[in-house]
Amino acid sequence: MKRFLFGLICCVLVHSAFAQINVIPKPTQVLTAKGAWTLKAKTKVGAPADAKWSHVADMLASQLSKATGQSVATVKGKGDISLVLSSDTSLGEEGYRLLSTPKGVTIQAQTAKGAFYGVQTLLQLLPAEVFSETPVAGVKWTVPYVTIKDMPRYAYRGLMLDVCRHFMPVEFVKKYIDLIALHKQNQFHWHLTDDQGWRIEIKKYPELKTISSKRKETMKGHYRDQKFDGRPYEGFYTQEQIKEVIQYAEDRFVNVIPEIEMPGHALAALAAYPQLGNNPDKIYEVGTKWGVYDDVFMPREETFKFLEDVLTEVIDLFPSKYIHIGGDECPKVQWKESRFAQNLIQKEGLKDEHGLQSYVIKRIDKFITAKGRRMIGWDEILEGGLSPNATVMSWRGTEGGIAAAKERHDVIMTPGGFCYLDHYQADPKTQPVAFGGFTDLAKSYSFEPTPADLSAEEAKHILGVQGNVWTEYMKTPAYVQYMVWPRATALAEVGWTSKEGRNFEDFSKRLEIHKKRLDFLGVNYFGAPTNDKFEYVWPEKK
Ligand code: ACM
Repeated sequence: MKRFLFGLICCVLVHSAFAQINVIPKPTQVLTAKGAWTLKAKTKVGAPADAKWSHVADMLASQLSKATGQSVATVKGKGDISLVLSSDTSLGEEGYRLLSTPKGVTIQAQTAKGAFYGVQTLLQLLPAEVFSETPVAGVKWTVPYVTIKDMPRYAYRGLMLDVCRHFMPVEFVKKYIDLIALHKQNQFHWHLTDDQGWRIEIKKYPELKTISSKRKETMKGHYRDQKFDGRPYEGFYTQEQIKEVIQYAEDRFVNVIPEIEMPGHALAALAAYPQLGNNPDKIYEVGTKWGVYDDVFMPREETFKFLEDVLTEVIDLFPSKYIHIGGDECPKVQWKESRFAQNLIQKEGLKDEHGLQSYVIKRIDKFITAKGRRMIGWDEILEGGLSPNATVMSWRGTEGGIAAAKERHDVIMTPGGFCYLDHYQADPKTQPVAFGGFTDLAKSYSFEPTPADLSAEEAKHILGVQGNVWTEYMKTPAYVQYMVWPRATALAEVGWTSKEGRNFEDFSKRLEIHKKRLDFLGVNYFGAPTNDKFEYVWPEKK
């Protein structure tokens, strides 16, 4: 009843001039009332006696302590800010209700994950200085009176990172995960193997570390210039580091999906294990150019053994339900020329080389499924017949996703024109060299993941949306940040907020406030260096 009355008062007052709520992604329902609750000198954060809930409370208390300079404690049960277990099933697994009243702030959720998202909203209701790592003096730490009920539109809200073209250190990866969590995204897709570098330790195949993680040089400038820097390049994550990142992500309710590319994008692996390629006598070198190489895995039994051994270690490391196997851009020239491949096509009664690709993917799908996991592949895995348990990541437009959903397969939408954050975001004349294309903030924001031509049943297979970050032209973490934010905030809102709730003008206004938060978090958004200065020099943030 009390809650109802508060809601009613909010409804009555909502048309007056109240605080603008600048939360990204935009919450589902917001009712504001006049006034604000102020953090007390000895504010306490209360939470149920449960390890996950206490962890969420600890993270909030720690952030409040750092920014305010006051010691914010956590307690079991009720506090000035209380995280409360709710039995309201309408909140779902990730939803929350946040009430800010004269008595304090209450965040209700069915799960610790929902409470964590409530905390992300609470942090954004506070002044932007709350994201500071050091105390900020002279700030009025207020939370406007508000009632919010919020839950995501899509279950899958992801951001990918390619660490093969340019390696990104663990500390940066953690920061990337922080930002994923801040924007209520829940999947970090880690692209770990490619032609230009293999970045994950596999104990059974040590030469993936000593050979496949290194290249002799790297392209300089744009691909069309065909220039090279002459400098050796390397990078690699140990399994211990991988575990550390997975735990860090789990603490922030982010699932880490590993991607191990096959049967194409295999050159770095072939450099160490040439017997897995078309020609075991060939000297393969880890790729130094961007683009797609003809050197792919030859689907011999020995190759399957390698791939399954690798996947076994990967599955043991990553608790993720989803394991990504790439499957994109596999040129068929070598399979066309190979007597072994042609014999296999005949023996298995396959139609052609696309059938052979499908044969590889289906075998791997079976292997992953038998281990209790689900396989994701880029939309090329549709060619030659989709394997039974595959989830499709639609990148060459939405057509692949539509076809897969019509076959009742799950789909993650990530079409290049909207979700590829390696595209130019502004006039290329004003930008550092980038892959190409043009996808500005408004374009990313305009993306609608559920195509209109799907039936309601088919539409249920659209799990969500993901931004992809290919790092050919992003040599440094700062450049990755420049390309990713704020466009990823637009995609976060696409994934979370209802279609009707989205409005680019309104988003742009909220983004102006959000940028202050990104400033405190040290995120290099909108800091374009000039082309000629770019190489390794990064300008001071504005
Ligand atoms: C891709 O961009 N090759 C998935």
